[in-house]
Amino acid sequence: MFDNWEELENSLKECKRCKLCTNRTNIVFGTGNKQASIMFIGEGPGADEDLQGEPFVGKAGKLMNMAFDALAINRKEVYIANIVKCRPPGNRNPEQDEATACLDYLRNQVILVKPKIIVLLGSVALKNILGQEYGITASRGKWIEKRGIWYMPTWHPAALLRDETKKIDFIKDLKLVIEKYKQILNN
Ligand code: URA
Repeated sequence: MFDNWEELENSLKECKRCKLCTNRTNIVFGTGNKQASIMFIGEGPGADEDLQGEPFVGKAGKLMNMAFDALAINRKEVYIANIVKCRPPGNRNPEQDEATACLDYLRNQVILVKPKIIVLLGSVALKNILGQEYGITASRGKWIEKRGIWYMPTWHPAALLRDETKKIDFIKDLKLVIEKYKQILNN
């Protein structure tokens, strides 16, 4: 574990911990406020993210940005990262060995950011952070508190592109996040 961002980012630069290193253009480390109260965790970079080196800049990211705008969430004020930092080919889900190899980096990011709230975007984030026993359909929209961090599982933004009805849930869940954030600020 590293106690500063520079060393952590340097430790990743030549990462070959899993097979995803062979096809990557860029490592997608994370973006946003490094002291954010709210952190978002997705699955892994897609083609646009791989090219630009930033999470959620493609179609799903644009949809997430629209939701942020609608709810007055400033993307620069939250921290956004992924379970895996290199693109899985063909946008498949990360395989378990890939997620496991990469998780230490994310754990280190969480330790450095010290978020009060973590939004888990989709099943891959939920299962890798809270445990394989969790399912996104049953868990979304419900708070789970663990070791002083409030977790809110919700749909992955890409799921909203496939099923419009999930947009309502997504907005509802983000509203719960804002409410909780305000409660925490007032305590
Ligand atoms: N999907 C993710 O899970 N993460 C990204 O950064 C982009 C798309």
